[in-house]
Amino acid sequence: MSRDPIVARSLPALHETLNAFRAANDTVALVPTMGALHEGHLGLVREARRRCKRVAVSIFVNPTQFAPHEDFDSYPRTWDTDVAKLAAENVDLIWNPDVKTMYPSGFASRIVTEGPAVVDLEDRFRPHFFGGVATVVGKLFIQCRPDVAVFGEKDYQQLRVVTRMARDLDLGVDVIGLATVREHDGLAMSSRNVYLSPEERATAPVLHRTMQDTAATLRAGDKVAAALAAGAARITKAGFALDYFEARHAETLQPIASLGDGPVRLLVAAKIGTTRLIDNIGV
Ligand code: PAJ
Repeated sequence: MSRDPIVARSLPALHETLNAFRAANDTVALVPTMGALHEGHLGLVREARRRCKRVAVSIFVNPTQFAPHEDFDSYPRTWDTDVAKLAAENVDLIWNPDVKTMYPSGFASRIVTEGPAVVDLEDRFRPHFFGGVATVVGKLFIQCRPDVAVFGEKDYQQLRVVTRMARDLDLGVDVIGLATVREHDGLAMSSRNVYLSPEERATAPVLHRTMQDTAATLRAGDKVAAALAAGAARITKAGFALDYFEARHAETLQPIASLGDGPVRLLVAAKIGTTRLIDNIGV
């Protein structure tokens, strides 16, 4: 049986609910999202439920992680269906601040992340991105003080950056990464997949297939540079404008020259039409 989650839209309302959970000695898991929820998000919610007595989900489309030319205004907003999905998962609390609550007039601080945030992957193509993500996730952790926070491997660099930040700043939260939830044809679920035309949707699984085949040839002994070049050519030939296709150390995200330098992660970002997709797998 599902029950409606409590919806908090102000900090006092948030703290009132969290204080009640704490008074009962309940552990709290937080799942930060921007809404437009799909099975990938719900996988995180289920993991949160396994780990803690109380589950809080934040829904906040964070303007500071979008560049002016990006899709902040058109980002899908599906509040009613999001709430219904979270109710069905027995989520206890939805934290849904508006922009003024998160960034009051005069707001002038930012968390700057280094290490995995400056490795020429997403940071190269979206230079504003991790400043926005680290600041909002840092605020969410401070506002909610969760025991555990669950993030998806889908946004692999983000997971590494947030994990590092939580440790570096002693935020007292255990950051958990969860495997990417995929469509049947391998496409990683994403709120942005709704932007794809039917033709683009049909092409999109090439990213995952190419990563899988590249991982297989690497394991079979192919040289990293040659395997990546072949994969990049295949992705481009399928109709993508490729931002990067790289093999990196899975923890530090530093470049690797051979599988022996691993654990290795393959990471890809490419545009099809106007939609930018990212994905990654372990080798
Ligand atoms: P959003 O894109 O809504 O994603 C919220 C969480 O869901 C992230 O941890 C993301 O990695 C995870 N996720 C998305 N697609 C997934 C999939 N197919 N399988 C598993 N997990 C998936 O990422 C953000 O929001 C924002 O940057 C945020 C962290 C909320 C800060 O604003």
